[in-house]
Amino acid sequence: MLPERRGVIVGSDVNKGADHNSDHGLRAVRRSRRFGRRRLLFWLFSFAAICSICIAVFGFKLFFHGVEEHQSIPTLTSVKEILTSVEDVPVEPETMDPPKKKPPRGRFYPCKVELRDSVNELVEPKVFGKFVNFSLNYVAREDRPSLEHPITPRFGGHQTLEEREQSFHAANQTIHCGFVEGSEGSPSTGFDLDKEDKMYMNTCTVVVSSCIFGSSDFLRRPTSKLISQYSKKNVCFVMFVDKETLVKLSKEGSTPDERGFVGLWRIVVVSNLPYDDMRKTGKVPKFLSHRLFPSARYSIWLDSKLRLHTDPMMLIEYFLWRRRSEYAISNHYTRHCVWDEVQQNKRLNKYNHTAIDEQFLFYQADGLVKFDPSDPKKPLPSYVPEGSFIIRAHTPMSNLFSCLWFNEVDRFTSRDQLSFGYTFLKLKTTNPDKPLVLHMFKDCERRAITKLFHHRNP
Ligand SMILES: *[C@@H]1O[C@H](CO)[C@@H](O)[C@H](O)[C@H]1NC(C)=O
Ligand SMILES: *[C@@H]1O[C@H](CO)[C@@H](O)[C@H](O)[C@H]1NC(C)=O
Ligand SMILES: *[C@@H]1O[C@H](CO)[C@@H](O)[C@H](O)[C@H]1NC(C)=O
Repeated sequence: MLPERRGVIVGSDVNKGADHNSDHGLRAVRRSRRFGRRRLLFWLFSFAAICSICIAVFGFKLFFHGVEEHQSIPTLTSVKEILTSVEDVPVEPETMDPPKKKPPRGRFYPCKVELRDSVNELVEPKVFGKFVNFSLNYVAREDRPSLEHPITPRFGGHQTLEEREQSFHAANQTIHCGFVEGSEGSPSTGFDLDKEDKMYMNTCTVVVSSCIFGSSDFLRRPTSKLISQYSKKNVCFVMFVDKETLVKLSKEGSTPDERGFVGLWRIVVVSNLPYDDMRKTGKVPKFLSHRLFPSARYSIWLDSKLRLHTDPMMLIEYFLWRRRSEYAISNHYTRHCVWDEVQQNKRLNKYNHTAIDEQFLFYQADGLVKFDPSDPKKPLPSYVPEGSFIIRAHTPMSNLFSCLWFNEVDRFTSRDQLSFGYTFLKLKTTNPDKPLVLHMFKDCERRAITKLFHHRNP
């Protein structure tokens, strides 16, 4: 996703400054370097200006493909981004889209979200939708005793392709859904939590959660004055971090108090991270809140780049109760077809290209079709989500979808935008009479209820 990349660039400059601050001897050198940098900047600006004019004149849509969201950020970043994204564009003629009327530029604005006036008016409906009911259980342990083929225990388990196929059925069954341990006595497969934190998490019925692993971001506290007393009392706000991040946050003054809180966030330290890839580890709290919070009926996920700007109960009312849906996620601000998303991921070198191809070819072989915006019966408004904000009821179907999506990320790449559409469509075709009631809302709504920041450099 773009903001992550952008954050890296912004963050690296900030950090460099901070690192050198104690180094008084270097100040003069730095100052002259800064002037050098300014001159460089001037030329960069000029170059960018010329580029923009060229682009405006020739309408090179491709140049701006990855830059849309950057219009709103400081010019320095934009310039760099434009330069890098120009380099990033490998021109593959057969995959280029036909030029559209206008290149998508301009800022992305929030739009009106008609929330209720007050949380006090809200009453949880007994039934707010016709959701499929079945009993879903999770593989807790894999101990296929086999001396010839011992398996290394892993967090996601070793789901076979047959088991994977079966898992898409909305039926009473036991499926893989992370937290898989090896045989008795084998070491933990990871995502270890403190006992007290677990006890706290077991009590939560409504959860707002987020994570920072590998010091990849700052701690953004929910805007307290916009959160009702009711929610402060009844909603758990849990921020999962690793030890490294905890140390870094503490250095910056965000030290948890004796109860483990920084503001509204309860800081929960995760040890023994299950994946080397921090992004993959981040998908555990993102998708598996029904496993982490077994008593929760609702959960809201927000990426660490977002600050929650709205009362969580109002969001549950607006996105779930009012729409009679059990899962709400926003669509991507420009891309709706997975084919475009794959191109973009490769263009910006978001992930090992071979791994992306493997995943995408698998999906195509299994019947993934292109998004057709003109189809009046299209199953979703978009096949590409902006997954930084998810609101869900912990119903069986919603939990099933979360597990299935997690399993895709576990099996393939951590780029979850690539697997969302496929997983949803496969679930739908596997269970024609048992729908997941999904509300895919507009990205501008996401912008209205949260505030977007840049990630920082790890
Ligand atoms: C859903 O099914 C489970 C068993 O599969 C049952 O215990 C529960 O009462 C059912 N809930 C509703 C609302 O029907
Ligand atoms: C699931 O099990 C419950 C009993 O626990 C039963 O009432 C229900 O019919 C089963 N559902 C399916 C889809 O088999
Ligand atoms: C990229 O992915 C492929 C297939 O998953 C793997 O064989 C290869 O080692 C990976 N390359 C790198 C540099 O990680």
